[in-house]
Amino acid sequence: MSRETNAMLKPDFSDRTVVVIGGTSGINRGIAEYFAAAGASVAVASRSQDKVDDTVAALKASGAAQAMGTAFDVRDAPEVSAGLAGFHAALGDFDVLVSGAAGNFPALTARMSANAFRSVIDIDLLGTAHVMQAAYPFLRRPGASVINISAPQSYLAMEGQAHVCAAKAGVDQITRTLALEWGGEGIRVNSVVPGFIEGTEGTERLAPTPQIRQAIVDDIPLGRMGTTRDMGNMCLFLGSDMAAYVSGAVIPVDGALSERGAGWLGKQMGDMLRAMPQPGGD
Ligand code: HXC
Ligand code: NAP
Repeated sequence: MSRETNAMLKPDFSDRTVVVIGGTSGINRGIAEYFAAAGASVAVASRSQDKVDDTVAALKASGAAQAMGTAFDVRDAPEVSAGLAGFHAALGDFDVLVSGAAGNFPALTARMSANAFRSVIDIDLLGTAHVMQAAYPFLRRPGASVINISAPQSYLAMEGQAHVCAAKAGVDQITRTLALEWGGEGIRVNSVVPGFIEGTEGTERLAPTPQIRQAIVDDIPLGRMGTTRDMGNMCLFLGSDMAAYVSGAVIPVDGALSERGAGWLGKQMGDMLRAMPQPGGD
């Protein structure tokens, strides 16, 4: 492992406004704190007011020029519009927008209720669309950088993950399409695809035991899980002028996990889920 693996890039965001949707835990909160440490004014949103308040305090402690937050559910388009209008009124045009609110649980398609499937599509896919539409008037033009947080399920089929696969593939197609629609205004749109990021809810839900986590690490070409710092470094790059010619890209930050495919992990998860008792008992 090189000495620079976890080094933090040092761009200066002290005159920039960064908005992180779903920014109150895990990967997205790590990204928000990273921009705060680079001096940005940072706003976060998620459903829980307690998580918002805790994150805003941490952003101030990390060095944010200004920090604020509000609670809303990305499934509610009018709430998203009102929340983003509030951020704009307080902090001005958005230089960086990170959209990462998401939900996931492992479940076989044939055993999932219609509402279970719909809830992930509603949060991940429609929620992303709501955030993009609501943010559009407030993005700095030229210069804004939009970063959608995707997942390897976007392009790797995985048993027990049809809802997430469908939703995240949709997210990445929104990324590509908006890169076309908004490029003429100088707005860049990219997706970042985390692999397994250690200590996060997503990893906990898909790899719930130390044995599974070790088997995953053994299968990752770079030999370790990712960190929120790895994600923060990529987002700082994409949010900076160093990435001025990068748009419409779907960029894995996954230690080459995507090149290995998801067959092994998906098969394990499928076998585990098939061995569970069926709801209703048959
Ligand atoms: C089957 C399930 C289920 C499960 C919930 N449901 N969990 N079905 N197996 N394990 C069903 C419920 O029974 C219900 O259907 C429907 O889904 C909605 O559930 P609610 O709890 O009412 O929904 P809600 O409160 O809106 O919560 C949404 C959620 C929840 C997605 C279900 O887990 C959540 O809030 N998640 C946010 C945090 C999260 O998931 N973080 C990880 C992101 S990681 P019925 O029919 O009973 O009404 C990620 C990718 C990771 O996205 C990739 C790693 C490589
Ligand atoms: P996490 O900690 O559960 O973060 C999810 C965030 O979204 C939280 O702030 C949550 O806060 C918010 N959120 C969830 N549903 C919401 C809704 N309906 N409206 C508004 N906000 C909502 O999960 P994570 O593991 O760090 O994942 C973060 C992102 O990375 C997700 O997009 C996920 O798909 C992606 N990802 C993660 C991994 C991984 O290894 N963890 C791998 C690939 C991709 P509230 O509960 O307060 O709403």
